Amino acid sequence: MNMVKIYKAVEVSAPGSLRVVERAISEPGPGQVRIRVEACGFCNTDAATVTGIYPGLNLPRVPGHEVVGRIEALGSGVSRWKIGQRVGVGFFGGEDGVCEPCRRGDIVNCQNAVIPGITVDGGYAEVMIAEARGIASIPDELSSKEAAPLLCAGITTYNALRNAGLRGGDLVAVQGIGGLGHLGIQFARHMGFHTVAIGRGQEKEKLARDLGAHVYIDTAVDDAAAVLQRMGGARAILATAPSGGAMGPLVSGLAARGKLIVVAVPGDQIQLSAFPLVFGGRSVYGTLAGTAIDTEDTLAFSVLENIRPMIETVPLEQAADAYARMMQGKARFRMVLVTGKGMAAARVA
Ligand SMILES: NC(=O)c1ccc[n+]([C@@H]2O[C@H](COP(=O)([O-])OP(=O)(O)OC[C@H]3O[C@@H](n4cnc5c(N)ncnc54)[C@H](OP(=O)(O)O)[C@@H]3O)[C@@H](O)[C@H]2O)c1
Ligand SMILES: [Zn+2]
Ligand SMILES: [Zn+2]
Repeated sequence: MNMVKIYKAVEVSAPGSLRVVERAISEPGPGQVRIRVEACGFCNTDAATVTGIYPGLNLPRVPGHEVVGRIEALGSGVSRWKIGQRVGVGFFGGEDGVCEPCRRGDIVNCQNAVIPGITVDGGYAEVMIAEARGIASIPDELSSKEAAPLLCAGITTYNALRNAGLRGGDLVAVQGIGGLGHLGIQFARHMGFHTVAIGRGQEKEKLARDLGAHVYIDTAVDDAAAVLQRMGGARAILATAPSGGAMGPLVSGLAARGKLIVVAVPGDQIQLSAFPLVFGGRSVYGTLAGTAIDTEDTLAFSVLENIRPMIETVPLEQAADAYARMMQGKARFRMVLVTGKGMAAARVA
């Protein structure tokens, strides 16, 4: 084989530093595949790797868990996947199969899961090794760069909404209009909910409405909970903004038995009053991304309903700038690294 034995990756070598390095290509082990990466989205959770705060994280580490590419090598025992097939991997990179949640069939909550970009090297790279049980098939209708954000931002909001016991026509709010939120708004609208977007400032109103929101609440001007109560109370609020301070008061905007679904992971605490929880049976709970088969459902629904992320693409060399742009809230709405074939497609688009 004439394959080049070196690949480029962007690694966190020390907290706060993202740099392009060259690494030697390795062969996939048993049950693994090697992917030639075409696109990888930047998720706000990548900050846990870049800052080095994720518990047990070992540096250097290549971040990235919204990865799409083609399989170029198969490890032993991999039968489901073929060389050349386009696949993706998200935050769920594979379960251990032996912990208690796994033994109960709840593999997304595996206590020793493989997490690309955290426990193993991720997709800010030309090449990545993935567990075959953690990869999803990518439909032909989606380009690699538009599929990538669906692998974390997409699946997280899609799963949160579809698993919330909601019914068509329910009042559903999405708080935070970033990578997750801009997809959450589209999913909520296309699932048939009365969709409210909650942002701060007027700048995002038109974007939120274009994404499908029936109503936009600007928290710089209005109290979101009061507006939702005037509308009858939300059956669910999907909290994607990484601000515990902004999340707690939203519980008062829920209808009786309404749910605050927490997907953001803010550094600050969520302060809660017991009154709206007890008087009205409201609840607050969290949910984590989803499994590889949930990813395939997310992609299929996105194709069916013509849901796409809004993206800005950059080459590997600009990873540090793209990361900074996301962290400053300037991305509209997902930064995506493109490499190899993904780059060619990005130039045409
Ligand atoms: N549960 C999961 O499985 C899962 C999966 C992926 C990500 N996450 C977490 O989800 C969160 C969002 O990730 P992301 O990639 O979507 O981040 P992102 O692209 O940076 O978007 C976050 C958005 O929140 C908005 N925001 C921040 N504070 C706000 C406030 N007080 N009120 C209203 N909006 C506010 C920001 O808007 P402005 O600053 O422009 O106002 C920004 O657009 C992160 O905490 C991430 O770690 C969780
Ligand atoms: Zn993510
Ligand atoms: Zn497990």
